[in-house]
Amino acid sequence: MEIIHVSAECYPVAKAGGLGDVVGALPKYQNQAGHIAKVVMPMYRTKFLFDNTWEVVHKSGTFLGHRWFDYTIIKEKTNKLGFDLYLVDIPGLLDREKIYSYDDDVERFTAFQIAVVDWISVWRHRPDAIHVHDYHTSFIPFMMQHCFAYRHLSRVPVVLTIHNAQYQGWMGWDRSNYIPAWDAWSGGLLGWNGVINPLAAGIKCAWKVTTVSPNYLNELRYNSNGLEALIEFERGKCIGILNGIDTKVWDPATDSYLDSHFDIKTLEKGKAANKKLLCDTFKLDVDKPLIIFIGRLVGEKAAELLPGAIGDSLYHIGTKMNFLVLGNGEWWIESQLESMKSVWMGFYNSKIGYNEQLSHQMYAGADFLLMPSRVEPCGLNQMYAMRYGTIPIVRSTGGLKDTVIDCEEPGGYGVVFNDLSVGDITNAIYRALKLQDKPGKMNELKKKIMALDFSWDKSAEEYIGVYESLQSK
Ligand code: ADP
Ligand code: GLC
Repeated sequence: MEIIHVSAECYPVAKAGGLGDVVGALPKYQNQAGHIAKVVMPMYRTKFLFDNTWEVVHKSGTFLGHRWFDYTIIKEKTNKLGFDLYLVDIPGLLDREKIYSYDDDVERFTAFQIAVVDWISVWRHRPDAIHVHDYHTSFIPFMMQHCFAYRHLSRVPVVLTIHNAQYQGWMGWDRSNYIPAWDAWSGGLLGWNGVINPLAAGIKCAWKVTTVSPNYLNELRYNSNGLEALIEFERGKCIGILNGIDTKVWDPATDSYLDSHFDIKTLEKGKAANKKLLCDTFKLDVDKPLIIFIGRLVGEKAAELLPGAIGDSLYHIGTKMNFLVLGNGEWWIESQLESMKSVWMGFYNSKIGYNEQLSHQMYAGADFLLMPSRVEPCGLNQMYAMRYGTIPIVRSTGGLKDTVIDCEEPGGYGVVFNDLSVGDITNAIYRALKLQDKPGKMNELKKKIMALDFSWDKSAEEYIGVYESLQSK
């Protein structure tokens, strides 16, 4: 089958979070299974762009409302990522250093989607499926079915994956002219609750909707930032498929970001060397258990509770552990985390910013990973942590519920808690530290989690099953 993934992110080209990881891995696994999976994404001004060679495959132009724009599609020449990668260059709109957070993101991502559909509409053949990811690409099924210029694509199945329903791309109806001319009676498909809602439009128009874990789909029915009724109405075409991880990129035995490599057999020695490097760098005590947090410092990740939970743990449980935080996001959470450094010097440290290498070093060197997420559609951190022998302490939500079993349950291997407050997190940390009281327990758990299989093999096949189910329709 030929599958075209369309996404705002793809690792290692441009990544802001887990979306990038998924789109950088899933197509690779689909190709390995004998299919042809390709990725189309915006051309940002990233290091990857300048470090690689490209060929122009298509040049054209079209309208975004009344504004004409030129676009060029370029293709990476060597296929080094394990799939064909196409970038959409729209000068003045997409060619910037950051992926998101510009005032004109609505214009940027709408123009991107129009360019993608415009390009595919002139192909001599039809792909077997278009797979779009999150709201930045979820106008595409509407455009392929209802825009006059592209309706000849209406028989091509489109699958939408919801990685995060918190972000829906809302825009006012005054911008409805951005979408190329559509048949008048279909306009309602664009809206939800009085505004244009790209994610809602995608849910209504995609042939199939997937969420990145089965449990998240359940949760969306009750808590999806305003889309509950729509999810309930469309639930017949929704399916939850758990994300995998790229076990070649995330392998402690070969990870190019690590100085000391290890596998299950050399776990103790290898983790100790990685931990020493981290503790030396961040002035922490290597003899105490190291608890890390890595992620966006936003409410979804319950990051605003970290300062309280870290402070309370060190104060009430005692200075028996160290904390290290890596992340960026809300300025006020960043500054609280930074200011705690002087209060808990020697027991706590943080690095504000995005740092891919440090994240790998932290998964490798830590004893525990803390993920108290308020909302977590899947979560990849806990799976990376486990692959590197780091025990997850997670709140039971979304994909965390699907991937971590509490160590007090039969077959369990992590620490899972239900409610969300500073006290609940502190109590979970207390329970995690207790694991050390039983001799050998920690190492036994670390070995167990390293042996778990979170690779993409199974889920990549599940997606193929979804595309196949749409072929005869
Ligand atoms: P989300 O996509 O909601 O942010 P995920 O758990 O799916 O959460 O994926 C997060 C990804 O981003 C992981 O690969 C994680 O290691 C990475 N990440 C998050 N914040 C940072 C950071 N500050 N520096 C480096 N990597 C980060
Ligand atoms: C989103 C979610 C995260 C998920 C990732 C990849 O960013 O917040 O939970 O793991 O997408 O699907």
